[in-house]
Formats: sequence, structure tokens, C-alpha cells
Amino acid sequence: MSEVRVHNLSISLDGFATGEGQALEAPFGHAGERLHEWLVGTRFFHAEDNLSGGTQGADNGFAVQHNPGIGAEIMGAGKFGPPGWQDDPDWKGWWGPNPPFHTPTFILTHRPRPSIEMEGGTTYHFLDATPAEAVAQAREAAAGADVRIGGGPTVVRDFLAEGLIDYMHVAQVPILLGRGVRLWDGLESLEQTYTIEPVSTPTGITHLTFTAKR
Ligand SMILES: NC(=O)c1ccc[n+]([C@@H]2O[C@H](COP(=O)([O-])OP(=O)(O)OC[C@H]3O[C@@H](n4cnc5c(N)ncnc54)[C@H](OP(=O)(O)O)[C@@H]3O)[C@@H](O)[C@H]2O)c1
Repeated sequence: MSEVRVHNLSISLDGFATGEGQALEAPFGHAGERLHEWLVGTRFFHAEDNLSGGTQGADNGFAVQHNPGIGAEIMGAGKFGPPGWQDDPDWKGWWGPNPPFHTPTFILTHRPRPSIEMEGGTTYHFLDATPAEAVAQAREAAAGADVRIGGGPTVVRDFLAEGLIDYMHVAQVPILLGRGVRLWDGLESLEQTYTIEPVSTPTGITHLTFTAKR
């Protein structure tokens, strides 16, 4: 059976994966870019932007695991656009005409719309479904490859709560955000169902991998 995976999900020390006040000019609210500074410096991220260079150390070693073996992504409405994007019939995500997914990409929303075919192999499908139903559809579209849960924190939390995630990589960034959307709420005793391994890197990031005990 293919796996359901999370990669490069960045959280603050107090567990927030996004700040408060998400808006068109501020995709991560008051957190700004601070959650992802470790990632944008890596060779992986540079390559995604068709740039050369970038770090090749341990942070990059985690970052590069994002795409291999992935055949579909599921994300939440909060990742796909700023609050209210559902009222804009022309909104096609943050990522331009050739988004970095290159697979069928399922957007969970209570206000679905027709699918949109983008350049580079990404097709957006809008889905009002339970997490288990979404995984079943994404698995079918992935044709045997793995499914990535791309975030944001609300969706990852819901999928964790239902035991649907096989592997998760969280990058814990040494900042305190104080407010925003927390990943961990309601997930008491999650450690009983996952093997958790921490690895610290010289940039101050603690990479945490969660592997489901099956
Ligand atoms: N730190 C990171 O690595 C990282 C990664 C990805 C995203 N982010 C950030 O996280 C933020 C978004 O996260 P979020 O937690 O606010 O939102 P989210 O998890 O992206 O989306 C939650 C929303 O998706 C819709 N939804 C969720 N489950 C659904 C279901 N089963 N059926 C139908 N609709 C469903 C609902 O929206 P509606 O009711 O409006 O339809 C819900 O409010 C953004 O700021 C983004 O930039 C951070």
C-alpha cells in the first residue's frame, strides 16, 4: 500500500505552523518568512525555483525528501489561498501557472469548484470530503505512488487525528510565535502511535520525524 506523508512542515517552538492574520500580502500572517528561512536557503528550494546554489547540509537532506515517490497532494483551503479566495472565480493558488506540485492536487474546501488543469502536470481538484475519502481519491489518482499531505496545520492535524499519516517530517524552528494556528492541539498521546526521532542541525532547526507504529 502506498504511504501518506508530510514533509517540511515548519512549526515554531510553541507549535504554530502559521501566524495570525493570513492575507494576500502575508501568506503566513505575522510569522512572515521566519518559519521557512531554513528551507529557502537549501539547494532543494533553489532548484524548485530554477536557481542554482543553496546549502547542501543536513537541512537540505531533509528538504529533498519532499517530492520523490509522491503521486498526489492533498492540501487545505487555507494553504491554497488567502481568506476569501473562494469568492474569486479566477483564483488559481499562490504558485502561478506552473505550480510546484506536478501531480493531481486535491484542495479540501466546503465550497468546491470545477477542476483546473495547470502547466507542468498539476491539476487542481476541489473536494468536500472526509479525510479518509480524500486519501482514497488521492491514492487512486497517485496510481500506486505516495500521497503528500501538504498542510496547513488544520488539515495535517485532522489527518493525524484519524490515523491516516504514515510518515511526517516536522521542522521545529527556534522562534516563538505566540499566536496563529497550532499543529498539536487535540493530539494528546500522539507519541504512542509514532516512533519520533529528533535531529538538530547547525542552523538551529530540530527536525522531527514521525513514523507510524503499524
Ligand atoms: N508551516 C508550514 O510548513 C506550512 C505548510 C503549509 C501551509 N502553511 C500555512 O498554513 C496556513 C493554512 O493553514 P490552516 O490550518 O489555516 O488551513 P488549512 O489546513 O490549509 O485548511 C483548512 C481549511 O480547509 C477546508 N477543509 C479542511 N478539511 C476539510 C474537509 N474535510 N472538507 C472540506 N473542507 C475542508 C476548510 O476550509 P473552508 O471551510 O473555508 O472550505 C478549513 O478551514 C497558511 O497560512 C499557509 O501559508 C504552513
